Amino acid sequence: MHPDSVPTRGRTLDYGAPVYDMLEPLLMLGKLSANNRRIIDLLSLQKQHRVLDLGCGTGTLTRAIGDRLDAEAGGMALGIDAAAGMIRIAAKKRASTTCRFEVVAAESLPYADTSFDAVVSSLFFHHVDRDLKERAIREAFRVLRSGGLLVVADMHTPTTFMGSLVSHAARWLLVQPQIGENIAGVLPELMLQAGFEQPRLNAMFMGYIALFSTRKAQVHTP
Ligand SMILES: C[S@@+](CC[C@H](N)C(=O)[O-])C[C@H]1O[C@@H](n2cnc3c(N)ncnc32)[C@H](O)[C@@H]1O
Repeated sequence: MHPDSVPTRGRTLDYGAPVYDMLEPLLMLGKLSANNRRIIDLLSLQKQHRVLDLGCGTGTLTRAIGDRLDAEAGGMALGIDAAAGMIRIAAKKRASTTCRFEVVAAESLPYADTSFDAVVSSLFFHHVDRDLKERAIREAFRVLRSGGLLVVADMHTPTTFMGSLVSHAARWLLVQPQIGENIAGVLPELMLQAGFEQPRLNAMFMGYIALFSTRKAQVHTP
């Protein structure tokens, strides 16, 4: 583990960080930017929005979000990852006036209640076990303002033969029971338990990556 990484039971990618930007487009079959665009469309960003990206890796999505915000209006995309190796590369390649990165574990966020308009995460939840998935989703709920959005793209119950083959092979070849939990469909269940509205399944990518969105219900004060 990198000396500056934060301790977590999550499968962090400190050692994969230097090659991550080369490998991810291959693993995503060239669909990475299209998938990120779908995620961003769901966020309905306004220039003053504050957006938190959980398990941001090298920060491609965080930066794409940040580029749509305006620092003078208060807009900021903040990417967090428990792996300092990932954050070092993200900060070097992708930090900007509207895009910052911090070494933080998603299950223990050092941010104030209701301090973000949206929380987003791409391909992070299959790296953590059920307990950490639950804690990270509860933390997302806590830091979101009333009416704030949670958008998650991650492995889920496959809908095609190829999707099933790829996701089950990944679960067993990588010895990653966390993937098995995603395949069993725990993510929407945990969102509901944390207090979010009924999650919406907006799209499936490659037959095994689901794009969910849900909201922290708006509280109307008299
Ligand atoms: C497959 S990568 C996804 C990176 C990026 N979101 C993307 O779409 O390219 C999963 C990331 O989750 C991070 N991670 C694992 N456990 C974590 C935790 N408990 N808190 C925050 N990040 C964690 C890993 O270090 C890794 O960078």
